[in-house]
Parts: sequence; structure tokens; C-alpha cells
Amino acid sequence: MVFATIASFIGYSVLIYLLYVIIRSLYHYLILPRIGPYANTRWASTLKPWAVVSGGGSGIGRGFAEVLAKRGFNIIILGRSRVSLMECEEAIHSHSPNVEVISAEIDFSQPSINWIPLVRSCIENRDIALLVNNVGMNTEIPGPYTEHDYRHVNAMVNCNCSATLALTKLILPLMKQNNKGGIIFLSSCTGVWACPLQAVYSATKAFIFKYAEALSEELRISQIDVLILSPFYVQSKMSGFRRTSFLVPSAVKFAEHAILFLGRTSAPQPMFSHFLLYCGFCLASLLPSRFLLWYQKGRMEDVRMKLERRRRRDNPPSDTRDLGPTLPRDSNDESRIRLDRDEDHDTYSGVDLSAFDPRTPFDSTPFSQY
Ligand SMILES: NC(=O)c1ccc[n+]([C@@H]2O[C@H](COP(=O)([O-])OP(=O)(O)OC[C@H]3O[C@@H](n4cnc5c(N)ncnc54)[C@H](OP(=O)(O)O)[C@@H]3O)[C@@H](O)[C@H]2O)c1
Repeated sequence: MVFATIASFIGYSVLIYLLYVIIRSLYHYLILPRIGPYANTRWASTLKPWAVVSGGGSGIGRGFAEVLAKRGFNIIILGRSRVSLMECEEAIHSHSPNVEVISAEIDFSQPSINWIPLVRSCIENRDIALLVNNVGMNTEIPGPYTEHDYRHVNAMVNCNCSATLALTKLILPLMKQNNKGGIIFLSSCTGVWACPLQAVYSATKAFIFKYAEALSEELRISQIDVLILSPFYVQSKMSGFRRTSFLVPSAVKFAEHAILFLGRTSAPQPMFSHFLLYCGFCLASLLPSRFLLWYQKGRMEDVRMKLERRRRRDNPPSDTRDLGPTLPRDSNDESRIRLDRDEDHDTYSGVDLSAFDPRTPFDSTPFSQY
């Protein structure tokens, strides 16, 4: 009798939870797209709201920059390569000619003290309503941690973690002054479920997830919204997908869906297809944790083999222990806005090696010095 009561209680609880998930999903994926973004109504009173997008020259960042421009936001794009920044600017002006665009060439793999003054000058006297903490880099090919160049590891931590911390630290106080704003964080599904052979990337994304989650609670009673995105694959240079599909949306489509959730819920999967994958991973999490780790490792080994094959096909064999294409390139391009650099510094592919002294691995400059 007692056993039957407990069993029916558990059964009803599971049913009620499933019903809740189904109703919430119907709302998210069928109703929200018809209501439109909350951000628009929220900042309609602001004359010229600005959105700052880090890593906005290409990929998901560019998707956000374009979608937000279409929604009437003026855009500050912070990115690494001048070419992609210019392409993004042109794309925005072609469909949203009334929108102002500022772009600044910044290498976020550098310690933040190098670029903070430049960001400061971009945001000064502007009504920053939205910050999209998008910038991120990964290893070119998944592989064991011991194979990764430490300089690249350090660059990843600077770019994926320190840049987000510094940008948020710069912009959040402005939002607090106005008591309105929104911050979008790009974590990843690998930040929710650890990913062997991408250990550092996965850890940096988990860092972003936890940081953003805690921050969203700190800001709950304010008028500042936090949205944490943990996508599966989105078409971009980083994911390596050249074509879109049901499971791999385009960056613009992803951004369009994502901004519908800002201010409405904090950590969703904006794409229905990703939501299905998310449910699958949640179910798999009920198994012993080694199962998912084993599965992820197998997947990454396949990716590694495919990428190595592609690399051998596309490039003649050369030194494969380079830092990968996601590192700053050794470019002679003139920056439109660039900080003066000390030319005497030891550099490698444009990266200041003095920043990679293993004795001082991370940017530890106190904010009071900025
Ligand atoms: N795509 C996915 O499947 C996926 C899945 C989960 C999470 N994410 C996350 O989503 C975010 C965007 O990813 P994505 O796929 O759009 O990547 P992406 O295609 O590589 O684009 C990243 C953008 O950031 C810029 N960038 C990279 N390193 C930089 C640096 N050191 N300094 C300044 N700018 C830099 C790139 O500039 P260049 O144009 O110069 O390269 C590019 O504009 C990342 O945080 C990533 O972790 C992506």
C-alpha cells in the first residue's frame, strides 16, 4: 500500500513536470516568436540605444550585430580582424542605413589592460543598453591537453573568460546607473557537459555559465536582464559547419531566436532543435557520468580525424604545432582604431609573448588601475 502510494506520487510528479516542460516549450517556440523581442518594447523609450557586441565581425557575433541593427540598435562591434569588421559594418549599413556603427579592432587574447582604454573611448557618452559577450576562441583541432601550446591556452583564457569579465565590469555600472539594460553571455553546451579533448575550451565555457548564472541572481531585482546561451552547433568558422541544417542553424537565425528570450527567461536553448538535443543530454546525464564523457570523447576523436583529413587535403603538410587560425594573425593591416604598442616586445603571430610568462599566467591587474 505504502509502496503504491509512493510510486503513484513519483509518477504524478514526473507527469506534472513533463507537462510543465511541454507547456513551457510551446510558449518558447510557438508563442514567443509571434510576440517579438522584449528588448524592443523595453528600450523603446531610449532615443538611441547602443549594443556592444564582442567578436562581432563574423559568426554568431555578426549574427547578433545584424539582428540588433535591424531592431534599431546602434552597434559597437569589437573584433579582431579589420576585414571582417568592415564586412559586418557594410552588411549592417546595407539593410539598416539609419543605424550608427562603430567598430574597434581589439585582440581579446591580450591581457585586458591593453584594450580597456579603447573600449572606454567607444562607450563614452553613449547609452549602452545591451552587451553581447560573444567573443570566444577554441583550439583549431580537438586534442589532449598535453598537446596544446600553453600560449594558446593562455590566449583562450584571456579571450573566453577575462574579456567577458572586463567588458561586463566596464559596462554593467553604466547600466546600473540607468537601471536598465541587458547582457547576453555565450557559453556552450560543452560548458554544461564537460568535453574531453576540448578541456580548456569546455572549462572556459563552464566558467562563463557559472559567472553569468550568479550575476543574473545578483541583478534579479534590478531592471537589467541576463541571458545565458549554451548552444550546440551553430554554423560559423569555429564550428566548421559550412552548411546549415535542422540541427545547425545559421548565426543570424540563432541570434533572431535568442533575443526573443532576453528578459523573459535566463538560460534557454533558443533553437527548438537544440532544445531537443538538450533534453537528450539531460536524459543521458541520468546515467553514470562516465557515459557522457565517453560519448563526448568519442565524438571529439571523430571530429579530430575529420579535421585532420580536411587540413591535409586543404594544406600541404607543414608544421602542425602552430597556434591555429583562431589566434591573432600576423597582419600588416592598419587599424582604424588601434592602441599604440611597444614595438620592442617579443611577439609571435602578433601575440605579445611577455603576456605568456608562465609565472604570470593570467591578467591579474586590479580594476582600480584601469
Ligand atoms: N558556433 C558554435 O557552434 C558555437 C557553439 C557553442 C558556443 N559558441 C560560442 O559562441 C561564440 C561565438 O562563436 P562563433 O562560432 O561565432 O565563433 P567564430 O566563428 O570563430 O567567430 C568568433 C568571432 O570572434 C572573433 N575573435 C576570435 N578570437 C578573437 C580575439 N582573440 N580577439 C578579438 N576577436 C576575436 C573572431 O574574429 P575573426 O573574424 O578575426 O576571426 C570572430 O569575429 C563563442 O564564444 C563560442 O564559444 C559557438
